[in-house]
Amino acid sequence: MAERSSFNGSIGFVLAAAGSAVGLGNIWRFPYLASKDGGGLFLVIYLILALTFGFTLLTTEIAIGRKTKKSPLSAYRRIHPRFQNLGIIACIIPMIILPYYCVIGGWVMKYAVDFISLKGAETASDGYFTNFITSTTQPITYTVIFLVITAFIIFRGVNKGIEKYSKILMPLLLILIIGIAVFSLTISHTDSNGSTRTGLEGLKVFIIPDFQGLTIEKFSITLMDAMGQLFYSLSIAMGIMISYGSYVKDKDNLVESINRIEIFDTVVAFLAGMMIVPVVYVFSGYEGLNSSGPGLMFINIPKIFSSMGVIGIVLGAVFFLMVLFAAITSAMSILEAIVSSFMDKYGISRKKAVLIEFSIGLFLAILVCLGYNALYFEISLPNGVKAQILDLMDYFSNNILMPITAIATCVLIGWVRGPKTIIEEVTKNNESFSRKGLYRIMIKYICPILLIVLLLKSAGII
Ligand code: PFF
Repeated sequence: MAERSSFNGSIGFVLAAAGSAVGLGNIWRFPYLASKDGGGLFLVIYLILALTFGFTLLTTEIAIGRKTKKSPLSAYRRIHPRFQNLGIIACIIPMIILPYYCVIGGWVMKYAVDFISLKGAETASDGYFTNFITSTTQPITYTVIFLVITAFIIFRGVNKGIEKYSKILMPLLLILIIGIAVFSLTISHTDSNGSTRTGLEGLKVFIIPDFQGLTIEKFSITLMDAMGQLFYSLSIAMGIMISYGSYVKDKDNLVESINRIEIFDTVVAFLAGMMIVPVVYVFSGYEGLNSSGPGLMFINIPKIFSSMGVIGIVLGAVFFLMVLFAAITSAMSILEAIVSSFMDKYGISRKKAVLIEFSIGLFLAILVCLGYNALYFEISLPNGVKAQILDLMDYFSNNILMPITAIATCVLIGWVRGPKTIIEEVTKNNESFSRKGLYRIMIKYICPILLIVLLLKSAGII
């Protein structure tokens, strides 16, 4: 059997994992939550959680990967035979996420193409987004292109694919996002009532803590929002970090790499806030800040860019290109989690594994696209969302299966095998692991409790 691939260096690993972590969540949800939940207050809570909750879960998954040298489908069984089924769930999750993430990736690509071909102004017309996603061929075409690009990179393998493209796309992404964030601080706009708002005022909305009217209830909402966001943002419980961890060399310093991944992801989320909150605030005031997700990215932001004239068209092209890079590196990671699982479990070649998952993913992605026309339906989910096929898949994977997987992982490591399983892996070259004590308490007690609350909340039960 061929020797397992590994990342050439820790930079490749850090950029690949950060590429997975930095995705749509950083851009279309983090800035919205921060401005909704009291600016700096949200940021401080998010940072504290990143250093405790996020750090514990990320360390656990990456260390499980490196220790077992297996992808999620086989790794859990290696840690404990009774947890074999957890591996199956950890492989089903990325199989559900990949198709709909590629559909959204296709939407991003369509907008990038529109802006780059100087047709950005059209995207601001009423009903543009709805007309696009309800049309028959366009969304499917863009989805297929997005999926083919992702599959091509994964087909090239760990070094010539994941590592190489992460090293190209991530620095580019960083340059583009810094460029837009700095630019957004320089803008100002006078609306029809004659009031002028500036980018710097928008920055204040994002970073200055707003304690006005703070109640225990509001504080707990902020806490839950920050936790849910962090959990998703670090690509936890998607099988990804286990499979990427399995490619890390034994001599590499895991603690150092994990710190860098967290810093990268948090810095990009912060830059996304610096970029989006001022732009939206300047052109749409506080009301504009009420939108997130597709509504923000595909309706409000294009309207703002179009109202800025030529500069807006350039800005739009740079923005959607940057989002496209973020989406591709995340989609790569989720496909790799599945492909490496198939390779490990069934002993098949990378080429075969990619072909199999490409076919399954393509079929499901087309169903997701058709969910907005031929297969349209609308059902209400327990969390209040009116769902089509895409939202249904998102709810089932994100809100139900992911928290359950993370809770089971905490039970496995915290209680069944013991935290030392991970601590020994992380310190096997005598690396210093100063948060060892914290890790033990987090994995045994605090993370499972927080995750149970997260599960009940995101499932819509409380
Ligand atoms: N951390 C990613 C994000 O913020 O978008 C989460 C993610 C989603 C990773 C979907 C990979 C993926 F396919």
